[in-house]
This record gives sequence, structure tokens and C-alpha cells, in this order.
Amino acid sequence: MSLAGKVAVVTGSGAGLGLAYAQELARQGAAVIINDVSQDAADAAVASITEAGGKAAAVVAPVGSSETALQLVDTAVETFGGLDILVTNAGILRDKSLLKMTDDDFDAVINVHLRGTFTCVRAAYAYFKENGVAGRIVCIGSPTGQRGNFGQTNYAAAKAGIVGMVRTWAMEMKKAGVTVNAVIPVAATAMTKTVPFFQKAVEADERGEAMPEFFRRELGFGPAQDVAGVIAFLSSDEAAGVTGQAVGVGGDRLQVWSHPEAVVQEYHEGGWDYQTMLTEGRSILEANVQSVGETFPELPAELQPEDPAK
Ligand SMILES: NC(=O)c1ccc[n+]([C@@H]2O[C@H](COP(=O)([O-])OP(=O)(O)OC[C@H]3O[C@@H](n4cnc5c(N)ncnc54)[C@H](O)[C@@H]3O)[C@@H](O)[C@H]2O)c1
Repeated sequence: MSLAGKVAVVTGSGAGLGLAYAQELARQGAAVIINDVSQDAADAAVASITEAGGKAAAVVAPVGSSETALQLVDTAVETFGGLDILVTNAGILRDKSLLKMTDDDFDAVINVHLRGTFTCVRAAYAYFKENGVAGRIVCIGSPTGQRGNFGQTNYAAAKAGIVGMVRTWAMEMKKAGVTVNAVIPVAATAMTKTVPFFQKAVEADERGEAMPEFFRRELGFGPAQDVAGVIAFLSSDEAAGVTGQAVGVGGDRLQVWSHPEAVVQEYHEGGWDYQTMLTEGRSILEANVQSVGETFPELPAELQPEDPAK
């Protein structure tokens, strides 16, 4: 098994994608610390792994604080003798358009995703450095962080921030041989169940049916298990040469996201004052407008969400 002898922490692994990641890491031989805010979900996740012959233990605590981050690392070390892999996956949504979004909506999402990723990665990296471990870190982003999405100010900020931190950490951790990558998943979970566009696909998944081909290929959307193999690969020794990347995965699709690069560079001696912007700069900006948001293909009629008015 490719991860035999390794120890992993997966945050938010009581359900959804995190559970699929934890189960796959365990299937590949890693001992896994399950983390969630729900005791029942965490216990069920541990049971699903141990009943399949794997090793797992639970830490029920909300990620965000340094205390939880240290508790996760300490429990991995005390229970399974070390730490090799961290997957920062825990997440929540508080979607609202900008004028309806409260300070609490903003802070809650930033705390779990952005601060939770920061505190957990800092604690894991401190352990890796102190113990000479060429650890593996996988942080979870989102298409929303890459492209923006209506009603997701807080979530876009957090997820774009996570990928920004990953780029920085890849530079800082290189010498220690620690890799850190972002995975941009798309999958049928409780989180995507609320999106009408994915309704039929998530319902099919919940009934245990195969995902419609259209979703698997055109949208890169499938069950959570489809993402787990990439997480396991990036967590393995085999992925030593991959760091600082943003890897998209879902359904039948694997993507390598580019990092932002300047698409046009022009020069004006003395700089770009307001008048120069009017005479030269404006046409450069207008000729090179970059798109925002994700574009989805038209859903075939049979896969259209139910009309809530009916
Ligand atoms: N499902 C998708 O298509 C999709 C797309 C892009 C990104 N993501 C990201 O993937 C991750 C998992 O999403 P999901 O769809 O499985 O969501 P989910 O809601 O199904 O599962 C999230 C899990 O995290 C737990 N959790 C919430 N707050 C926590 C906290 N403070 N500490 C510990 N655990 C906490 C929840 O209890 C839950 O078990 C999230 O970071 C999400 O933003 C998901």
C-alpha cells in the first residue's frame, strides 16, 4: 500500500469529501485522525475505517483556532506515533449577496476555511520541521476562489486566500522537502445539494445511481470518491516533485489551474498618469478584459432542476 506507515490528519472528515479522503488515505495504508464538529459523524467515520481494517481516531473540535490545530497534531503523534500528511478540508457556507452579508457571515467562513487552514498548516509544518519529516500538505480550494461566484464574497475570499497561501508555503517549505498543494474539487455532497444546477446529479448519487455522463465529463462532477485518489497521490512519496500547484478534480476530469500571470505588459516612459490612461491605457484595458465567474454548459432537458414553482 502506498501510504503504509504514514499518519494523516483530515479536517472536516466526518462527512462529504473529507470522509472520502480519510477513507481513501486509510485504504492506502495511512492511520487517520478524523476531525469534525459533529461527534456522531466523527464516530461513524472512525467506525467505517476500522471496520474496513484501517486505523483511525477522532478529534471532535472546530478548526479555526491554534488550540484545535495543536490538538490535531498532538493527537496524531500520541495515538499513531507521528504525522506525515495534513489535508485541510473543513468548511462551511454562509452564502449571501454583498449587501445582505453580515460581519458574522463573513467572519464565520473566514475563520473555518482561511484561519483554519493557516493554523493547521502552521502546526503541522512546525512538527515536520522539528522532526525532519518530508510531509505532505493538501489544502482545499474551490472554483469560486479561482473565478468568483455570485453570493459568495466570504467563501471566494477564503478560497482564493487559501491558494495564495499555498503558493507562498510552497516557497517557504521547499528546503524542508515538504510539499503543499491546493485541490479544487467538485463533487456531490451536502454542500452542492443546495445548488439547483447540480440537483439531479446529487439526487442520483444519493440513490446510489451512476452519475449521468454529462455531469462526469462536461462538468467534472461526480461522487466524492472521485476526488479522493488525487488527494492520496498528492499525499504520497510519489508526489515529491509536485508542489505549489492548484489541481482541479471531479468526475472524469483532472485539471491543472494556472496561477495568475500578467496577460499583457505595455510600457510608457515616465509611467501611466491619468492623461496617458485616457490616450493609451484605456484601449489596452478594454482590449484585454478578463472574464469572471464560471461558465456552465446548458443542461440537457432531462437533467434540468425541478421547477420549485411546480
Ligand atoms: N462539494 C463540492 O463540490 C466542493 C467544491 C469546492 C470546494 N469544496 C470544499 O471541500 C470541502 C468539503 O466540502 P463538502 O462538500 O464535503 O462539505 P460538507 O458540508 O459535506 O462537509 C464538511 C464537513 O466539515 C465539517 N465542519 C464544518 N465546520 C467545521 C469546523 N470548524 N471544524 C471541523 N469540521 C467542520 C462539517 O461538519 C462537515 O462534516 C470544503 O472546504 C468545501 O468548501 C467542496
